[in-house]
Amino acid sequence: MPKPKTSSEEIGALIGDGTSVTPIDKAHAMERSSNSSHWDVIYGKYRHDQVGWYAPVLQTSLNWILKYSDSEKCAVLDVGGGSSTLVDDLLRHFYSNVTIVDLSQRALDETVYRLGAKAFEVNFNCADILDPNLFLMPVKIWHDRAAFHFMFEKEIDMYLQRLAKSLLPNAVFILGVFTKNAPPTCSGLRVNRHSMASLERIFSHSFLLLESKVETHITPNGVQQEYLYSAWRRLP
Ligand SMILES: C[S@@+](CC[C@H](N)C(=O)[O-])C[C@H]1O[C@@H](n2cnc3c(N)ncnc32)[C@H](O)[C@@H]1O
Repeated sequence: MPKPKTSSEEIGALIGDGTSVTPIDKAHAMERSSNSSHWDVIYGKYRHDQVGWYAPVLQTSLNWILKYSDSEKCAVLDVGGGSSTLVDDLLRHFYSNVTIVDLSQRALDETVYRLGAKAFEVNFNCADILDPNLFLMPVKIWHDRAAFHFMFEKEIDMYLQRLAKSLLPNAVFILGVFTKNAPPTCSGLRVNRHSMASLERIFSHSFLLLESKVETHITPNGVQQEYLYSAWRRLP
């Protein structure tokens, strides 16, 4: 069932500018990003095209996946894919081995509902990407837009360990995060905003930088947010 529309004031709570936060979002603001109930509340309140990070097409993500994958059969993982439309576009481009890992079952359910019969072609996994016991088949393309940027300190170390475990040799890792010019919070959670210098400190030991770009995202509420995209190849 489609969810009822919400007022623009409520949607304002999701745009991440910290100016208009509903009591329920405030209550969750102090929770860690890896709390699935936080995300289930968000996805329970807002349709996939009402959340602040929604874009009809994640164009840079899609372009770079097409560019760096050697075949439509290669394993692609969308980390924190939520209810994003990236999977719709990958299926349209005949990708046949796509996995979405997300903390929120509600978000995944919404994607299943939207895809209809096409959902059978996708692996959905409701899990915390930082869970060391999570079993994942190694992938050729790892994509993460706006999940890593909720991680700090120890979580970053855990993320690096998961990357090391789950990337095939020569795999490409595509990352989209808030820049220092973007809001300090997103969906009521603190964001670890990055520059290329901070990303290089984290990733350049194990990855070769292929390219990067800054992109302005317009939220459904008309607010501009700057994302830093980078693509990295796993070093042998
Ligand atoms: C801001 S949304 C971005 C959604 C999507 N990637 C996009 O760009 O439209 C962040 C998503 O990451 C998921 N997430 C956050 N931390 C996660 C974790 N540790 N493991 C798996 N998913 C996570 C959330 O449930 C949420 O769906």
